Amino acid sequence: MRNFILTVFFLFAIFSCSKNDNSGNKDVLKEESEVAPKVITDPIAEGRSLVEGADCLGCHKMDERMIGPSYKEVAAKYENTPENVEMLAEKIIKGSSGIWGDVPMPAHNGLNKENAKFMAQYILSSK
Ligand code: HEC
Repeated sequence: MRNFILTVFFLFAIFSCSKNDNSGNKDVLKEESEVAPKVITDPIAEGRSLVEGADCLGCHKMDERMIGPSYKEVAAKYENTPENVEMLAEKIIKGSSGIWGDVPMPAHNGLNKENAKFMAQYILSSK
């Protein structure tokens, strides 16, 4: 009988331990995926792959004007400053009109500000 009680106690101890471990792990995983930001070591390369992954290249080329201005034209017009990165990121998200001609650029509402800024940094670095 004493052994039985010990065994039950022992099993219970293991059970409650492993339960705690599991929930602990879950919290760690949650934190990694929801809180930890992606570490960007090269913002220009990041911007380039974002531009290539979006619809931008349907209207913009690096050095030839299409529906929109070429990225080199944009880079020649605006100095590469944090203010201009911010301003262009805003336009990429909200759209732009009346600067390069009669054709407006549609808004990209699904884009977040951070990614739009990487795109603007990539464009302004393309001199
Ligand atoms: C449907 C065609 C089209 C698409 C798609 C498009 N653009 Fe444009 N873009 C334009 C046009 C047209 C202009 C010129 C608008 C103007 O005159 O204000 C422009 C202007 C710009 C400018 C300069 C804005 C300024 O104030 O001088 C930037 C930067 C830019 N686009 C980046 C992007 C990026 C990044 C993407 C992809 C996320 C993108 N564009 C997708 C047509 C497009």
